Amino acid sequence: MKLIAVSGSLRKNSFNTRLAGLMAEVVPDGVALESLTLHGIPLYDGDLEESEGIPAAVEALRGRIKAADGLILVTPEYNAGMPGVLKNALDWLTRPGEEMKPTFGGRKTAIAGATPGAWGTAFAQAGALINLRQLGCELYPGYLRVSKAGDRFDEGGADDKLREQVAGWLEGFAAFVR
Ligand code: FNR
Repeated sequence: MKLIAVSGSLRKNSFNTRLAGLMAEVVPDGVALESLTLHGIPLYDGDLEESEGIPAAVEALRGRIKAADGLILVTPEYNAGMPGVLKNALDWLTRPGEEMKPTFGGRKTAIAGATPGAWGTAFAQAGALINLRQLGCELYPGYLRVSKAGDRFDEGGADDKLREQVAGWLEGFAAFVR
């Protein structure tokens, strides 16, 4: 089984990118997980789409999504929502309109997120449900919310409790994808 985890942060030391990387380390047997970021995707602009078509970085990401059995969005929380970087990528991926269904329709999808704050990106994840439902994703009901991320990650990686939490959550998602 192939899963991809897409981080919604462009920051080098992003907790969410580190969480996506941790997922790749603790996957269940028989599962390969690729962790990706959204670097290189321009802001959605209908004029750009009309003059130059879909950007190569978007098509490359679409290819990774289509090749995967399951998609994980690892979202930061900005002002109680997903960051523009992630929403922008989702918007591009639904263009042209006929690509929405083959990219997202029935796609087994899970949402995760990390924040230094107390609520584990709960608001961003709740908001994302509306968007992902619109896209036709088949949503995994289990959530992974990492609070106080600064205490959970250090230079050596993640603490044991977080590793166990992520491994258990991935077991559940892998079973859902199967
Ligand atoms: C934040 N942050 C934040 N955190 C949170 O838990 N709830 C929120 O509503 C917000 N709002 C918010 C807005 C903006 C504009 C920024 C820049 C930040 C803090 C955020 O969780 C923190 O910066 C994380 O470290 C971002 O994720 P990465 O980059 O570490 O993955």
